Amino acid sequence: MVVARTAGPIRSCDLSQGTNNVKYRALGYLSVSGERTLPIISCQDVVKTYVTGDIRVEALKGITLGIEKGEMVAVMGPSGCGKTTLLNCLSGIDDVTSGKVEIEGSELTEMDDNAKTRFRARRMGFIFQFYNLLPVLSAVENVELPLLISGKAPRSARNSALELLETVGLKDRAELRPASLSGGERQRVTIARALVNNPALVWADEPTGDLDKKTADEVVALMRKLNKENEQTFVIVTHDPEVGMKCDRIIHMRDGEIVNENGKVTTVCQDIIARG
Ligand SMILES: Nc1ncnc2c1ncn2[C@@H]1O[C@H](COP(=O)(O)OP(=O)(O)OP(=O)(O)O)[C@@H](O)[C@H]1O
Ligand SMILES: [Mg+2]
Repeated sequence: MVVARTAGPIRSCDLSQGTNNVKYRALGYLSVSGERTLPIISCQDVVKTYVTGDIRVEALKGITLGIEKGEMVAVMGPSGCGKTTLLNCLSGIDDVTSGKVEIEGSELTEMDDNAKTRFRARRMGFIFQFYNLLPVLSAVENVELPLLISGKAPRSARNSALELLETVGLKDRAELRPASLSGGERQRVTIARALVNNPALVWADEPTGDLDKKTADEVVALMRKLNKENEQTFVIVTHDPEVGMKCDRIIHMRDGEIVNENGKVTTVCQDIIARG
């Protein structure tokens, strides 16, 4: 019997037992090769309830999952099922109502706002659908901004930003402002900006939501390439089954819970067992 370090609902596992291996892989404690690893993201019984006046919305009803370093995971489900809320709670943008979130072994749910902001700036990148690029800055200025904010010297920040723009195929557009770029190009600038700090973890919310199919395919292929080359972990909220199919794993959600492909409420472990 091997005792794992988690304080989650499952505290130990017999690594000789197939079912437990699958369970542990789902929680991120085993690599696909069977090696025991720690998940880069793990959460236990995460509940998020929004209260506005008399109205209570249970956006997350007790989510437990683990994501392994280097995985590219899709989160899918109908509008309003809690995908963005899950991403916000796991990344520490939003506070959980109850439950525990750990990123790289640090308990996010115990950090104050300043510590969470610093942790996000150091370790995470964000790709959102509506670009969030600053319109008065050029592409390269948008990409270098996170580096300047975190205190990197301007010349070195500019060089890193240009390198990233080259990686996403936009070096020749570096001096243009977002208004002069196409939707796909803007999204690629957003990806470059999300990655410029070399984050361990990248969160994407509908990164292809308003792109045509060809551009969407290119953006996903680019994320996949960066995920493979840099071993960065990607969590991608998407409505697009094709994006889901390009990921290592799909987490299906419905009505604030994780469900299997038949829509039955489950844990991620059972979901994976069900899919073999
Ligand atoms: N700040 C908030 N205040 C109150 N309710 C909220 C808030 N944010 C989200 N909700 C509610 O929580 C539920 C989950 O919302 P969420 O944005 O996570 O859904 P989603 O799965 O991302 O949907 P979509 O695919 O449309 O983006 C919804 O019922 C939504 O109305
Ligand atoms: Mg959403």
